[in-house]
Amino acid sequence: METFSKKVSMAVVRRLPKYYRYLNDLITQGQERISSKELGEMMGLTASQIRQDLNCFGGYGQQGYGYNIMELKSAIEVLLGIDHKHTCIIVGAGNLGLAIANYDEFKRKGFELKAMFDIDPKLVDANVRGIRIFHVKEMTDFIKLYNVKIGILCVPKEHAQIVADEMIDAGVSAIWNFAPTDLKVPDGVIIENVNLSESLFTLSYLLNE
Ligand code: NAI
Repeated sequence: METFSKKVSMAVVRRLPKYYRYLNDLITQGQERISSKELGEMMGLTASQIRQDLNCFGGYGQQGYGYNIMELKSAIEVLLGIDHKHTCIIVGAGNLGLAIANYDEFKRKGFELKAMFDIDPKLVDANVRGIRIFHVKEMTDFIKLYNVKIGILCVPKEHAQIVADEMIDAGVSAIWNFAPTDLKVPDGVIIENVNLSESLFTLSYLLNE
């Protein structure tokens, strides 16, 4: 496997988690190699699309021999940055914030939740799976102390921008934003918006067709 050097297009980046999921499943089933045709059939892509995607990051299969699944998975882990740990915080310990904190899988993938923050004094000092909820006024110092780079934003949309600004001023460089609002952030800060409603509306549209 060659070391990745080219910049991968966003379209490929968006497909990487799906590749990662399928490869993980194959490893669990004990499979060691896979052809682009076989992987394509599983993932609903053409063999040539698979070869094109995987070539982008140096995943060169051998003719008649296919891809080494373990090597591909490792390359994808490096690309996705999940080959090392990330320190995260959640701001907004309401229904959604708690649901994310309670989902163990993120931790297994290297996203270590260090703390939660909320403005509601009733929630402060509570523990969720060993994760403490602090008052949001302690957030800035905490981010600096633990060099937190990922902020998970689960506050009502009216508060989202101000909390995001505070996170960024303190040193956060990537925000996983669940609040249904478009945040304005300085260049270089990464925002990944998640919106379940938009997905549900798409489903509803398709149902309506
Ligand atoms: P919630 O009302 O249960 O929780 C919000 C929490 O944020 C509360 O505990 C509140 O005290 C806290 N909060 C409010 N202002 C704050 C501030 N300035 N600093 C720190 N904490 C603050 O609401 P829920 O259901 O958990 O939703 C949270 C956010 O996520 C909302 O913006 C909602 O629209 C959004 N949401 C997004 C979804 C998605 O698919 N992206 C799905 C569900 C909710």
